[in-house]
Order: sequence, then structure tokens, then C-alpha cells
Amino acid sequence: MRYFLVIFILTSLGVFLIAGKQGDVSRKPPIEIFDDMVRQVKFRPQQPNRFFENERTSQLKVEGTVARGSAYEDSPVNTGKFGGGNTNFVSAIPIAVTGTLMTRGAERYAISCKVCHGALGDGNGVTKKFGMGVVGNLLDPVIVKQPDGQIFNTITHGRNLMNGYGANITIQDRWAIVAYVRALQRAQFATAADLPAELRK
Ligand code: HEC
Repeated sequence: MRYFLVIFILTSLGVFLIAGKQGDVSRKPPIEIFDDMVRQVKFRPQQPNRFFENERTSQLKVEGTVARGSAYEDSPVNTGKFGGGNTNFVSAIPIAVTGTLMTRGAERYAISCKVCHGALGDGNGVTKKFGMGVVGNLLDPVIVKQPDGQIFNTITHGRNLMNGYGANITIQDRWAIVAYVRALQRAQFATAADLPAELRK
């Protein structure tokens, strides 16, 4: 009986301590046993911040930033197409094709495309030796006849078995690669008219 009384009192006390004052309004801060991440060293949006030169915590976005997932300007340079629709590709590269762009394209092609499409663009890249069956032959007349915007689109989004490289290759570089692919094609289908007059004979 003595034990029962002791246990009864202790249990009642325990229940009261845990649940007794629940729901009470208090102006005192609650007891924190583990404060975890309730309070942390951080800057709030409008707080001054000496770390930056303009002393603002919220920095303006870097010029030209495109938010992830937001549509960027729907222009031929960005998409390879005229606005609206899915197949109205631009026929010619919409940026200036210069020697520098071509050199850049050759370099980028070697990095991103050569393994599969081969140095000539004929689809005999090193991956063929490792069992990659069908690799698009870039010298195929069907692809030669494609508008430049379509090749740009293939690089950006991929096609059938080919993955898209839009996330890895900048827009400028994609056009540079298109220019280089055109050069590869022209090199294979050159006619006498492509030669300078003094070499034509
Ligand atoms: C991992 C291997 C691989 C890489 C890297 C690769 N391709 Fe391809 N590509 C393919 C395959 C496979 C196909 C054939 C796709 C199909 O029709 O199933 C293809 C097809 C194509 C086509 C033809 C699309 C059509 O309309 O039929 C073009 C153009 C092309 N690739 C361009 C490129 C360019 C430019 C690059 C470099 C940025 C590149 N590819 C990188 C594997 C690759």
C-alpha cells in the first residue's frame, strides 16, 4: 500500500509536468532542450550586410540570368526556330559565321560529337567499336538538306537515340558546331565550283 501511494503520486506529478500546462498562454519563451535549427546565423532579406560592397543582403541578379525552368526569350538564336510551332526551323545560322566561330566549332565538335559521329561526321566514332549500333551519319543527304535550325535543335534536345546536349553546350557554341558540321558536309560533297579559279583545272 505504501508503494502504491508513492507510485501514484509520482505518476500524477509526471502526467502534470508533461501535459498539465499544455495550451496555457505565456509570455515567457518556451523551454528549449534542443534548440536545433530554430535560431541560426543567417541574414534576413532586408538586413544590411557589410560583406557586399552595396551592403545589401538581397543582391540583384547577375545580368542575363535566366531562372531555372522559366522560358527564355523565344527567338531564332535561342531555339533555332521562328516563334510558334515545332518545325519552322531557321534555314541559316542566325549569328555571324566567322573564322573564330568555325575554329570554336571544330574544337567543340571534337569534344562533344566526335566520339559518336567520328572526325568526318560519318558516324564512325570510337563508340562504334564499343557496340553502339546506329549513329547518325551527318553526311547523309537527308541531314545535309536539313535547315541549320534543325541541327541546332537536335544538339539542344537530341533525337531518337541521341541525347540532348543543350545543358552542356552554350547557345553560341551550338551554332559554332552547326557551322562546323556544315563545313564537314561541304568537304565531302565539294564540287569544282568550290575551288578557287586557279586550282579548278
Ligand atoms: C553518345 C553518342 C552521340 C553523341 C555524343 C552525339 N550524337 Fe548525334 N546522334 C547519335 C545517334 C545514336 C544518332 C541517331 C539517332 C536516331 O536517329 O536514332 C544521332 C543523330 C544525330 C543527328 C541526326 C538527327 C536526325 O535528324 O536524324 C544529328 C544532326 C546529330 N546527331 C548531331 C550531333 C552533334 C552536332 C553532336 C555534338 C554536339 C552529336 N550529335 C553528339 C549519337 C550521338
